[in-house]
This record gives sequence, C-alpha cells and structure tokens, in this order.
Amino acid sequence: MTGSQRPSCIKDLYRLMQFDIDVLVRGWVRTRRDSKGFSFIEMNDGSCLKNLQVVVDAALPNYIEILRLTVGSAIAVRGRLVKSPAKGQPFELRAEDVTIYGLADPATYPLQKKGHTLEFLRTIAHLRPRSNTFGCVFRIRNTLAWAIHKFFQERDFIYIHTPIITASDCEGAGAMFRVTSLDPAALPHDETGTIDYKKDFFGRPTYLTVSGQLEGELFAMAFSRIYTFGPTFRAENSNTPRHLAEFWMVEPEAAFFDLRDDADLAEDFLKYIIAACLDANMEDLEFLSKWYDKELIPTLRHIVETTFERITYTEAVSLLESSGETFEYPTRWGSDLQTEHERYLTEKRIKKPVIVTDYPRTIKPFYMRQNDDGRTVAAMDILFPRIGEVIGGSQREERLDVLLARIREMGLNEEAYWWYLDTRRYGTVPHAGFGLGFERALQFCTGMSNIRDVIPFPRHPGSAEF
Ligand code: 4AD
Ligand code: MG
Repeated sequence: MTGSQRPSCIKDLYRLMQFDIDVLVRGWVRTRRDSKGFSFIEMNDGSCLKNLQVVVDAALPNYIEILRLTVGSAIAVRGRLVKSPAKGQPFELRAEDVTIYGLADPATYPLQKKGHTLEFLRTIAHLRPRSNTFGCVFRIRNTLAWAIHKFFQERDFIYIHTPIITASDCEGAGAMFRVTSLDPAALPHDETGTIDYKKDFFGRPTYLTVSGQLEGELFAMAFSRIYTFGPTFRAENSNTPRHLAEFWMVEPEAAFFDLRDDADLAEDFLKYIIAACLDANMEDLEFLSKWYDKELIPTLRHIVETTFERITYTEAVSLLESSGETFEYPTRWGSDLQTEHERYLTEKRIKKPVIVTDYPRTIKPFYMRQNDDGRTVAAMDILFPRIGEVIGGSQREERLDVLLARIREMGLNEEAYWWYLDTRRYGTVPHAGFGLGFERALQFCTGMSNIRDVIPFPRHPGSAEF
C-alpha cells in the first residue's frame, strides 16, 4: 500500500490546507472512539503537535481489526482529505485503506491517560517523546540546533569537530570521566606500585572532554572564526535541575576578537536562536506556556528585544552586598557567584539578561586573559532569568610569557600543553570565545524547570538508563 503514493506528514497537511486530495499518512494512534458505523482515530506522527482525525467507515474490509486498535498502535492510512463537518479541526481523513503495523498492549503501555508527571515520564524516557510535552520540547531542540548552525554559517564561522577523548583538562576543574581499556580487576602497576597507564590504550591517562575550546583555539588560529557543537562531559556530583553529566556545548572561537566583540557576538547569537524558536515553534510554545509557564512567550520576546545589561564582577558584588537579601552563600569579592546570586541579579535587580565581566583571576581557568589590574581576567558570564549562567566565555591569554607564568603558578603540567602553547609561539593574536550550555538555553526556551527534561536521555549521578 505504501508503494506508489508518497506519504505526507501531518505538519505539511496543516501547512498546505488543501481539501479533496488523496493522501497517505503514517503514525501512531493517540485516541480512538467508535460511534455507529464509524471509528474515529486521532493520529500523530511527531511532525507537529496537532493530530490528524481519521474517519474509518465500518464498510472497510478490515474494520474488525481497526476496532482492536489501541492507543500507541502504529498505522498507515490512505484516503481522501476532506473539509471537516465537525468543529475542532479544519479537515479529516476519510480512510480508504488502513494498514496496521504494530499494536500496543493497553494493559502495559504506560502512555494511556493524559497528565502524567514529568518525574514519571522521566522513568519512561524511551516512550516520552510520544507525549505532547516532549514532542514540543524536542521539536524546539531541533530548531535551536539548526538555528545555531545557521547563525554561525551566515557569519562565516567554520564548523569543526573537536575530539571527545582527550588527555587535557580544559577547565581545570578536575571533574573528568576517565577513558580506559584496562581491566579494573587486573590493573598493571609500575615499580613504584602506581597504575601504569603506559599499558593503557592510549599509553597515557585519558578522559572524556569537558570542552572543545583548546582545540577550537588551534583552529581559530588558522580559519579566524570557528565553532564546535558537540557533547561534553562533567563528572561533578551535581544533582541540580541545571546540571547534567553529559550535555551539549556550542563553542565559537574568533581570532582578532576582544572581550567586547565576544560579548556582542554572544548577545546577537542568543537573540537569533530565540527568535528562530519564536518563528518556527509557536504552536509548541503555546502548548508549553499553557501547561508549564504562562510567561514563556513574553519572556522570550523580551530577550529578543532588550539590550543586555553589562556589569563587571566587582559591580555585581556591590549590588549583591547592598541588596538587603539574605543568601545561603555570602557574597564576598573573590568568591564565585552562586546560582542564587545570579538569579537575584538577573530576575530581581536588573530584570533582564546580564553580562558579568572581569572576574577575579583566582576563580577562573588558566587560559583567560589577565587584566592590567593584576586581580581580574577578561572573562564574561551571561546570566539569564530562571537559568542563571547560560554562557561562559573569555578573551584568551595570547601572550606566551603571561600564559606560561599562569600555568606554572597553577601547578599545571606545562609539557602537556606544548601544542596549545605553540599557537602563542607562532603567529599569536588576541582572540576570544565562549561556550553556550545548549540544554540551559533549551530550558529557557521551553520553560522546563529541570534540565533532565530537555535532553532525550539524561545522564546524571546514579542514572544512565536508556
Ligand atoms: O562555563 P563553562 O565551564 O565554560 C567552558 O567550558 C569554556 N571552555 C567555554 C568556552 O569559553 N569555550 O561551560 C560553558 C557553559 C556554561 O555556561 C553552562 O551553560 C554550561 O556550559 N554547563 C553545563 N550545562 C549542563 N550541565 C553541566 N554540568 C554544565 N556545566 C556547564
Ligand atoms: Mg562557567
């Protein structure tokens, strides 16, 4: 049956709004009800939130089987799309032929009724994409990913693939997952009794990357403007609604950029991808806004229209100190901003996205460019309402002597960074970049309060199911 006719997706049918045409549609049964002489099927194929109503006449030869169709069953329907006499949908599909691919046992299929909690749906992450909520979330995820590529491609940034397995700790946070092919039950030891990683697969200790930045910088020194967009891994034991052990990061890097250029790029970028989402996913946004966050759409529009506030870390600390708020973590010049501080600044005090720059050097990684004051580095974090830090970036230290001094001061193994340091030896230039936490951006765009609900199969402490 599927042979001769090109199948349509439901989204296309709603876009074209043509009646009295023959179509073939394939998807899954969302609901079915029978009335005298007819069976009414609501089917969905994931292309959009809306279902297609199918009307099956009892005269169809396999009508008995159609009456056994359950929620979650997979079908193909060929028939005529006609103007709907009923309210609630513009058209319906009068079935001429229904093929049943697979039934779903109603006794065990968990997506029977509406209104499951997000917590429950997380336990069935293999089926939750078939729910309305996760249909919306993952269509928006697709839009955002596409918009990210579009933004950078339109600006002549070259897309590069940085390695997943690495021997260096970019962020120096030490929260890395080890990669090894050694047998944990029979580890090789050297004369001193320590594990002999020379016998491991790569002949040295290796890890899953926490960031593609260092390799990104190497390519920016050849292509001027590059970006990476890939998975990154952090073994920090953070059971929070904003942390994942595996998340996706977008990292542009541009030669001849200073911190201000970097902040301008980041602001344009965030506005562009949010605008893309408003443009392509209004139906999904309306659904999410109805069920999860009434303010979602105005909040997104506000970001696109407003100018981000720019303040220094030192100014941020004064604002926090004079706030009269009691925070769980005290604010003191020299300590990192906590989520509660970030949210106070962007939600209560400034009421729009805030770009905080020039953090104390002691709380930032080795690669950030030292400012002339000797106390701060040319760093920037972008803080969003509800999310806190969505972007972290900086101008990089391009001066070999300053960078080397910092690496030594921090007790890092300078030999391990020989290739990174070479870029400062051969044609070094000022350059800057940033990293966007893709899932944090998605949380913002979908109104989902838990980051585990915006990635298909979340990995976090104690959980790597699916
Ligand atoms: O601020 P981070 O650690 O910066 C870097 O890794 C730099 N190398 C980026 C660069 O300059 N190229 O991480 C960047 C962003 C954060 O702002 C946050 O949005 C997100 O990545 N992020 C996480 N998202 C989910 N789960 C986690 N555990 C995250 N850790 C960071
Ligand atoms: Mg950061």
